[in-house]
Amino acid sequence: MARTRVLEVDPLNPDVEVIEEAVRVLRDGGLVAFPTETVYGLGADVFNTRAVLRVFEVKMRPLDNPLIVHVSGIRMLDEVATEVPEEVIRVLEVAWPGPLTVVLKRSSRLPSVVSGGLDTVAVRAPAHPVALKLIESFGKPVAAPSANLSGRPSPTSAKHVLEDLGGRVDLVLDAGETFFGVESTVVDVLRDPPRVLRPGPVGPEELERLFGKPVEVPDYARGLELYSGAPPSPGLKYRHYAPEKKLLLVERGSCSEGEYLGYLRELVTRLVGTGVALVVSSETAEELGGIPSVEVVVLGSRSNLYEVAKNLYASLRELDRLIEASLGVAESFEERGIGLAIMNRLRKASSRRVVCGSLPPTALI
Ligand code: TXA
Ligand code: MG
Repeated sequence: MARTRVLEVDPLNPDVEVIEEAVRVLRDGGLVAFPTETVYGLGADVFNTRAVLRVFEVKMRPLDNPLIVHVSGIRMLDEVATEVPEEVIRVLEVAWPGPLTVVLKRSSRLPSVVSGGLDTVAVRAPAHPVALKLIESFGKPVAAPSANLSGRPSPTSAKHVLEDLGGRVDLVLDAGETFFGVESTVVDVLRDPPRVLRPGPVGPEELERLFGKPVEVPDYARGLELYSGAPPSPGLKYRHYAPEKKLLLVERGSCSEGEYLGYLRELVTRLVGTGVALVVSSETAEELGGIPSVEVVVLGSRSNLYEVAKNLYASLRELDRLIEASLGVAESFEERGIGLAIMNRLRKASSRRVVCGSLPPTALI
């Protein structure tokens, strides 16, 4: 395809003509990138196998990594899933629309390519007026992975979508920046206790309140290991969210705030001259920003993890654009609420991790 059209759309009161145009493109088997409250998605008619195959092709996504199906609400669930437990319906009545994706038994009507040949399907109802209006007007579920090239940071603006997929998709609906900035929480609700497959804006504490019982957060959901063999969620096999530059994540371990800052300072000072950049909170930037010839990418205040999440992917893209930098040194954040998603993404994006104090900074260089 030669051309990608971009239509601006009001995020709160989506213009009817723009939505109608996007619906026409979906009906014709085309691909529409649209905003959700998490990241931009790349949408296709879920029942059009050719359109869905094109999603995999333009993203260069492996065919065994299934797509999330987007619905406008619980009433649309029946079209793609079956035998949904009553307990799950009660949770979705509270959590939807919102950044919670549930893995359910797949309906036999759903083309198997959507769910990568699995007998399950991941479904969510997005809480973004543009996404909801689009699905409602289309009248059918929309398959939509994040609208990035496979392995790249997810897009939180239409500009990011065009960087990765410009010329490869039919239409981009530009409604400005997305709200959360990290992808939805994915939960396998067919297991008891429910298991977090990918952490997101709905943190484990909130999930436990919603389900009224403990939920399981395995190590791979924290980003601590990459799966080999048959993973419970196919996406876990693949490296994700990665910038092109090398990223060294410095975990806090049991260091105090002062020790952590000291360790970062010594590490970065020793790296001066090798093209090092800091990817840190505004507080840390304030403390360490003065080191000569070290560029600083600010993620936001570490006392506001929502701000850090929202800026995370744009910051990784910014690191790639810093001509002088060859290595980013990233700060770690508290694993609570959306912080678990931040740490999962940072660990997966990093080419190396080091725990504060475990190695003298000299040993790392
Ligand atoms: O916030 C989001 O979820 C965004 C926006 C666009 O809604 N979408 C998104 O989709 O992140 P995608 O395709 O980039 O990520 C889907 C994740 C992958 O890790 C995939 O492996 C997992 O969900 N997944 C999909 N279907 C699954 C299934 N049946 N069982 C287990 N994991 C599944
Ligand atoms: Mg993705």
